Amino acid sequence: MKNDDAAWIVARQRHRLSDAHVQMARELGMNPKRLGKKDNHDQEPWKLPLPEFVEHLYLKRFGRERPEAVVSVEARARLRARAKEAKRVAKAARREAAAAEAGAGVFRIRDLTRSDERPAAQLLVDLLPEGWPSAADAKREVRAALERGRIRRAAFLGKELIGWIGGVDAYPGHVVELHPLVVRSDQQRRGVGRALVADLETQVRARGATTILVGSDDDHGQTSLAGIDLYPDPLARLATLEDVGGHPFRFYLKCGFVVVGVVPDANGFGKPDILLAKRVLPV
Ligand SMILES: CC(C)(COP(=O)(O)OP(=O)(O)OC[C@H]1O[C@@H](n2cnc3c(N)ncnc32)[C@H](O)[C@@H]1OP(=O)(O)O)[C@@H](O)C(=O)NCCC(=O)NCCS
Repeated sequence: MKNDDAAWIVARQRHRLSDAHVQMARELGMNPKRLGKKDNHDQEPWKLPLPEFVEHLYLKRFGRERPEAVVSVEARARLRARAKEAKRVAKAARREAAAAEAGAGVFRIRDLTRSDERPAAQLLVDLLPEGWPSAADAKREVRAALERGRIRRAAFLGKELIGWIGGVDAYPGHVVELHPLVVRSDQQRRGVGRALVADLETQVRARGATTILVGSDDDHGQTSLAGIDLYPDPLARLATLEDVGGHPFRFYLKCGFVVVGVVPDANGFGKPDILLAKRVLPV
């Protein structure tokens, strides 16, 4: 029972009110402990008797004589308790289902929102520190991803954010740049990255764009293009591209991307950016 249920039960008895009058008085915001002042028709006969006074105010305020449905204080308390219990059971069931899914490694993908800002930024700092050396840089990137027009999707295991992907209009109406993509270290190689890319493809198609472009930097000598001068013929060098240290370009190849170019020295001498693209809608 709510705190004032008991007070209304006492008031009902003391002032000989019907359930309807109690409900009307409640809806009018009256205080059950202060009805005595209003219920002194015997001493102050010019005042209306309390039930009539309540009816008078009710009509004035709500434009009708009585509530459409009268529910006693006790029945209302029972209904409230039942609704509360149902809510509790549903919440427990949801929590249990989420825990079971997380235990089974099932992840879900949904839009990244403002409330995911902190873990999303943390993933950038942890996984791509050369791009986002500080928490402040990473936060700025997440905020930019949350801006209108961007695509931002995130994977969750239970309630935990385990990866996210962004999409930026690079050539509006045609090409979306994948930027960024991160999957938490302990969740890598379980299909999360591939699922995020597939989800991005769906979003890009829905916009009517045909192509996803990604630039995958080689800052750590992970490919055969690192540490050398790609000039005078970068494309000849690119034709011999090989993975020498677990560079993510092979992940993108697995996702159906093809290598379309290279930006020599993108991050300093010998640190190229390898460009890959995937057509996701017929042109
Ligand atoms: C690259 C990254 C997003 C891949 O995510 P992931 O969840 O581990 O990838 P998946 O499990 O979906 O892998 C899909 C396929 O790619 C392969 N793969 C994934 N990473 C790979 C790598 N670095 N080298 C070679 N193959 C790779 C997987 O083995 C899998 O192959 P399979 O289908 O034959 O089994 C993740 O490793 C990551 O966040 N890395 C750090 C940040 C980063 O480099 N981001 C990309 C910047 S461009």
